[in-house]
This record gives sequence, C-alpha cells and structure tokens, in this order.
Amino acid sequence: MGSTNPLADGHVVGRPCVPSCWMPEAISRHNGGLMQISSNSSTLVLGIESSCDETGVALVEVGGSLAQPQLLAHALHSQIDMHRAYGGVVPELASRDHIRRVIPLARQVLEQGGRTLEQLDVIAYTQGPGLAGALLVGAGVACSLAAALDKPVLPVHHLEGHLLSPFLSADPPEFPFVALLVSGGHTQLMQVDGVGRYTLLGETIDDAAGEAFDKSAKLMGLGYPGGPALSRLAEFGDAQAYKLPRPLLHSGDLDFSFAGLKTAVLAQVKKLGGQPCDQVWADLAASTQAAIVEVLVKKSLRALDATGMKRLVVAGGVGANASLRQELNAACAKRGVRVHYPELHLCTDNGAMIALAAAMRLQAGKAQARKDYAFDVRPRWDLQQFEA
Ligand code: KG4
Ligand code: ZN
Repeated sequence: MGSTNPLADGHVVGRPCVPSCWMPEAISRHNGGLMQISSNSSTLVLGIESSCDETGVALVEVGGSLAQPQLLAHALHSQIDMHRAYGGVVPELASRDHIRRVIPLARQVLEQGGRTLEQLDVIAYTQGPGLAGALLVGAGVACSLAAALDKPVLPVHHLEGHLLSPFLSADPPEFPFVALLVSGGHTQLMQVDGVGRYTLLGETIDDAAGEAFDKSAKLMGLGYPGGPALSRLAEFGDAQAYKLPRPLLHSGDLDFSFAGLKTAVLAQVKKLGGQPCDQVWADLAASTQAAIVEVLVKKSLRALDATGMKRLVVAGGVGANASLRQELNAACAKRGVRVHYPELHLCTDNGAMIALAAAMRLQAGKAQARKDYAFDVRPRWDLQQFEA
C-alpha cells in the first residue's frame, strides 16, 4: 500500500447492483449475524490487493482438516518499471495498470492452484488504506466477480494483511505478540492479542521508515523505489562514516520520527557536491541505513519491555531489509525473544496477505462475508478504528 500519500480522504462508494441472499456451504451464520468458517469443511479465499503499485492475487485455503492456512497460489505484477520514469508512483497510471492486470492474474492463480471460480467460497479485497483509484479497481473487480458468481465478499484492511502475513511462513507466530509494522506509508508498534485485537503502542509522527529509505535514496540518486537499492549499496559502505541523527531514540516513548534524518542526508549530499566516488555514496547509504535500523531495533526492544512479551513479529516492506533482520535477530536472541517475519517475497504488498487476513478473520468469527456488493474504499484508514 501507499508509499505515497493517498489522493483522497474518506470513503469512495460503488455498487454493482446485484441482490444478495446466499451463503456458501462452508460458512454458517450465527452469533448475531457473524459468518464463521465451519469446522467440517475448508474455505477457499481469493484475495485481491491493489492499494498502490502492485497488483496481487492469491488463493488461500483455511479450516477443515488444515492445521494452518495454506497458500495455494499467488501472482504479483509490480508496476515499478512503469513508475520509475516519474521517480515515484503516479496514481492514475497505477489505477489503469491494475485494471489491465487483475483478471489475468486471477486466471493465473486459479490455474496454478488447480481450482475453478465456482470452487471459491469468498472473494476478499483491500478496502484501504491506499490510493483511492487503485483501491477502487480491486474493490470493483472483487465485487463484480462475486456478484457474477453469487459468492460473498470480504473487505480487508491492508495493514492487517501485513500484520498477519507471517502466519503463512514456515515458522508462524502464536498470539500474543508485539508487531513492528514498517512499510512505505506506516511505521507502527502494535500489541497484537489476537485477530482483530490490536493496540497501538507507538507510531511515526512524520515520515515512515520506508519513506526515509526512499527519500534518502532519491537524494543519493538511487531512483525509485529506493529502499532495496539503498540497502544493496549499503553492503559496500562503512556505517560509521557519517554521524546521522537517530530521531526520538531517547524520547522514552514508542513513537518514531524520520523527517529529520532525510534533512541530515540532504545536508550531507549538498556538502559532498558534484560527483563523489562510489565509496562515498556507499558510506552514506550504510550510515543512513544504520540510523533507521538502530531506531527501529531500540524501539522494538522497548515495546517488548513495556508489554513483557517475548515474541516479535516484523511485517511490511522494510521487513525485507537484511540489516534490520540481522540486528533484530541478534538483539532479540540475547533477550530470549523470538522474532517472526513473513517469507521474504511476502514482505512487500501481495494478494496472499489479503486472502489470509480475510480467512483468519472468518475463522476467528471476526468478520462477515457478505453478498451485499456495495463497495466502499477507505484511502485513509487507521487500523485502530478497524472493527474487530
Ligand atoms: O509494504 P510495502 O510493500 O508497501 C506499503 O504498504 O507501503 O512497503 C514498501 C516500502 C518501500 O518504502 C520500500 O522502499 C521498502 O518498503 N522496502 C525496503 C526494502 N524492500 C522494500 N526498505 C529497505 N530495505 C529493503 N530491502
Ligand atoms: Zn503495504
């Protein structure tokens, strides 16, 4: 989702005008209208992610005899090459590209997973946060497809997708845990007591960690998206070469601030002037990465201390950063804390996490899959306001 600011606030609504009255066999209605997964048969969820610059579609199966959610297939189209020329995501181009990609990707995952459209039980889509136009594509396609197939739909919070994505890994976590959510648009520490039970412990007051990577990389001429490029360059640099600020490191709370770091990087870039040698850029990249990583690690440890928890989950695109993983692993090992990550290819945006979040919400009795095809995207949406 949104490594750039959402275009619009509030809800954007649509309706493909199809009546509703149906529930799949695997879903039963009880608890005052909540629909839950039956313990007897498994439920097959198609997930569609289109909140920013990746179109992701996946098939996840839960329940029945399955001990844990199974990812049957997933397919992703990244728009990076298309946006690169503009130095960042162009929302209108993003929406148009999602339109082109989503149906072929859905076909691809059904074929890969060996399933048919008729076998789907639920169609899930990212409702927000993200770019309004991009979200509308996923929501519109999901609801139209569901209406045509007479299947229920389930809207999903993008950050909940990230948060739960480690449950698809070979080493899934158990509740409760502290989660460090580090993406292009968000940096949050959460206490997670179960599906839909999220307490915000701290968050960034300005730029997100991914933004700090991206903006610093841009200043160094590394292009878009900058995070992975900066991290690759940092491997060849000296992390001690430049003294960069660690904002709010000693603030005593669990909030973050990365805007000052970007300003300090800009000051260094100006000081260097002209075309410094490659080693200078590598040193600056390594020093920038070290500043971001140190703050993320120290604040995560503080959150673990504050909650008394012994389990940490790291999710979101920046969770793919090798240095962050290395530092967190070392610091947590010393304290007897277990750290869980999504599989590397599921750190950044994907459809698997959306299908999984929908499946886990249904399984936990926390969600209603509906045959009301009115859709409502939420470009700005706080996970705290998310109904459990
Ligand atoms: O979760 P994500 O795919 O999208 C959002 O929901 O925002 O995260 C994208 C962010 C971008 O800022 C990208 O530069 C950053 O994750 N990122 C990385 C790495 N891989 C992706 N940052 C640092 N190191 C990486 N290896
Ligand atoms: Zn994301």
